[in-house]
Amino acid sequence: MILQPRLLVFFTLMLMVLRLSAAPSVAPTPLPALIYGSAWYPEQWPEAEWDADLERMQAAGMNMVRIGEFAWSTIEPAEGRYELDWMERAVAAAAKRGMVTIIGTPTDTPPAWMTTKYPEILRVDETGVRLQHGSRRHFSIGSEKYRELCRAVVEKLADRFGKNPHVVAWQIGNELTEDSFDPESRGRFHRWLEKRYGTLDALNQQWMTAYWSQTYTEWSQVPMTTGRANPGLLLDHKRFVTDTWLDFQRNQIDVLRARVDPRQVITTNLGGLGWANKFNRQQISADYDVISWDEYLGSGWFDKTKNGTGHLDPLRSGATHDLVRGWKQKNFWVMEMPPGFVDWGSVSNSLDRGETRAMAWHAVGHGADCIAFWQWRSALNGQEQYHGSLVGPDGEPVPVYAEAAQTGRDFAKAAPVLAGTEPRSDVAVIHDYDSRWAIEFNPFSNRYDQMQILIDYYRALREPTQAVDIVTPAMDLSRYKLVVAPSLNVVSPRLAARLGDYVRAGGHLVLGPRTGMKTESNALSRERQPGALLENVGARVEQFYALLEAVPVAGAWGEGKATVWAEPLGRLAPDVEVTLRYGAGNDWLTGEPAAVRRQLGKGTITYLGAVLDSTFMDQVALGWLKDAGIATNAKISAPDGVKISRRVGANREVFVITNFSKGAQEIVLPGAMTDVLAGGEVTVAKLPRYGVAVLTRPLT
Ligand code: GLA
Repeated sequence: MILQPRLLVFFTLMLMVLRLSAAPSVAPTPLPALIYGSAWYPEQWPEAEWDADLERMQAAGMNMVRIGEFAWSTIEPAEGRYELDWMERAVAAAAKRGMVTIIGTPTDTPPAWMTTKYPEILRVDETGVRLQHGSRRHFSIGSEKYRELCRAVVEKLADRFGKNPHVVAWQIGNELTEDSFDPESRGRFHRWLEKRYGTLDALNQQWMTAYWSQTYTEWSQVPMTTGRANPGLLLDHKRFVTDTWLDFQRNQIDVLRARVDPRQVITTNLGGLGWANKFNRQQISADYDVISWDEYLGSGWFDKTKNGTGHLDPLRSGATHDLVRGWKQKNFWVMEMPPGFVDWGSVSNSLDRGETRAMAWHAVGHGADCIAFWQWRSALNGQEQYHGSLVGPDGEPVPVYAEAAQTGRDFAKAAPVLAGTEPRSDVAVIHDYDSRWAIEFNPFSNRYDQMQILIDYYRALREPTQAVDIVTPAMDLSRYKLVVAPSLNVVSPRLAARLGDYVRAGGHLVLGPRTGMKTESNALSRERQPGALLENVGARVEQFYALLEAVPVAGAWGEGKATVWAEPLGRLAPDVEVTLRYGAGNDWLTGEPAAVRRQLGKGTITYLGAVLDSTFMDQVALGWLKDAGIATNAKISAPDGVKISRRVGANREVFVITNFSKGAQEIVLPGAMTDVLAGGEVTVAKLPRYGVAVLTRPLT
C-alpha cells in the first residue's frame, strides 16, 4: 500500500512527537548545597576550547559556571535577531562536566547597535556628559526604552533556559551601580517627588525651602544633584535612586518569575565592596531569592583609606559578610572573589599562598553558600587583561589554581555537613541607610568616621560572641536579645514606636551618639535628640560636640575616653540611671552624664552620647552582652588573628576556623569534634598560617 505523500509526512511528524514526548526529560539538577565555581565567558573563546576549560574546572572540584552577564552583543547581534544556540551548547557542555549554570542577564552592557540607534538609553553623568559605547554601566536606569529592550532579551533567555534542567539560577545584570542624570531620569525624579509629597507646599514645608529662597513653584525646578544641597533633597534623591533600581530590576525579575521554573533562583551580585551606599541595598535585596555580593580587596575601603594592607582584613571582611547576610537575614552567595589578585588596586598585589582558600572559607563561616571566582580565564583583550584568573591565556593553570582545587576538595567533603546550617546570633548591630546618608551629607567632623565607629561596635560584640548580625531597622529585631544602633541619626515616629515595642517586650537596646537628630525628611527634629525616642530614653542631649581632644569618661561601666564626639545628657525622668560621666578636659562636659540606661517594660534602653576609645568599647560591650543574658565566653577561644564562625543546623553545629595570624596556631577545643576536612575526631585544631579547620559535633 503506497501512502500518500501528505499522509507520510503526517505519520513521520507524529512519530517524532511521540518519540520526543517519550524522550525521558532530564531531571533538573538540584542546586548544590555549597556552590563552587567561576565566571566563564564562552562567547570569548573558540567552542573547540570550551571542554578543556570545563574539564579543568571539574578537576578543581567546581560545580558551577556563571555565564552571559556581558554577552548581549553575542546574544542579540542585531535588533531582534537572537542567537542562543551557543549558550545552550555551553550550558550542556558544562553539565557534561558536572556543573550547573547561573545565567547573568546581559543588561550591564548594551550593544553598539543599540546605543547607536537609541542614544537616549545611554547614561548621563552628573556633569551632564552622556556616556558613549565602549565600556560597561553606560546605560540609564531611567530610560523606558532601555527597559523595553532589557525585557525583550530577558524574555528570550527565559523562554529558552527557563526550563533547562542544568540552569539553577539567574543573576540580574551585574553589580548595579550607577544612576543617571539624563532628562528622562530627571523627569522621573520630579514625578517621584510629586508622588511622595502630593503638593509643592508639602515638599517646600518638609525641606524648609524658605531657607536661602529655595522655594519651588514647579516640580521641574527641583534640581537632581548629589552636591552641597538641601539635606531633604539629598536624602530623597537617594531614595529615588533606590526606587529606580527597584523598578529596573523588577522589569526583569517579573519576566523571569512569569516564565522560569520556580526552582531556578533569582539573585544579583552587589559590588562596591559591600558597604557602598549609592542605594539602599537591603531594599534591593528584598526582591531576590538569595542575595549575592562580590568580595574584593585592594581598593576602596582597604586602599584609599589609611588601613589598606593589600591582604584580607578578617574583621572588616566578616562585618561585610554579616552586613550582606543581614539584608535578607539568611545565607548569601559570594558570586565573585579574586583568584589571588585584582587588576584595579593602586597596587594589585597578590594574596599570599593559602590566603585565597582561607578567604573563601571565611566567607562560608559567615553564611556563604556559594563561592565563585572572577574570573576563570582573562579575555585576550579588553579592559581587564591583568586581572587574576585560574588559568592563563594558554588555558594552562596558573599557580593559584592548585589552591582553588584544594578548596574544591574541601567543599566536596564539607558540603553535606554545611547543608541546612546558618550562623545564628543573639545580637544585632543596626546599619541604617537613611541615617548613614544623613551623616555623610553633613559629617560635622571628619574625625567622625561612622563606618569605623560601626566596625568598632561590631568588633567589641563579635569577639566575645563569635556571631553578630548587621541589619537595617526594617528587619525583624525580635529574634535578638541585644540590638545596638551606633549612629541612628534619622528616626521616624514609626521607627521609635517599633524600637520601644522591642524593648518593652524584653529586648535590650543601645543607642549611640547622634541618635534621633533628624526626621524622615532629614530635617532637624523639633524634639532634642534622641528626637522621636526621647520619651523612651527618658533623657535628652543637651548639646553635641565634635572633639579635637579626647575627654575622660568614668562610671558604672568603668573608665575610658570619649574620643571624637561627645553629648552631655540631661535626665528627664527619675528612673533613668547615669552609667557614665565626663571627666575634666572640656568645660562644656565636665561632670555631665555621658551615658544613661533605663528599664522599660521587660527590657532596657541605653543612650551612649560619646564615641569611646576601642579598649573601653570592648569592656562596655561585654557589659551590654551580660545584661542581655548573652554568653560572652565563646565556645572556642580564638588567639589573635584566628577567626571562628559557627553555623547551626537542625541537629549539629559546625565551626569554621581560619588562621589569618602571622604563624601556626593550636586551638584547644571544648571537647572532641569531627574534623570534616582531615577526618577523625580531634580535641585540638592545629592550623598553619592561613590554615582552615571545619569541625562539627551534634548539638547538645
Ligand atoms: C567586578 C565585576 C567583574 C569584574 C571584577 C574585577 O566585581 O563584577 O565583572 O570587573 O569586578 O575585579
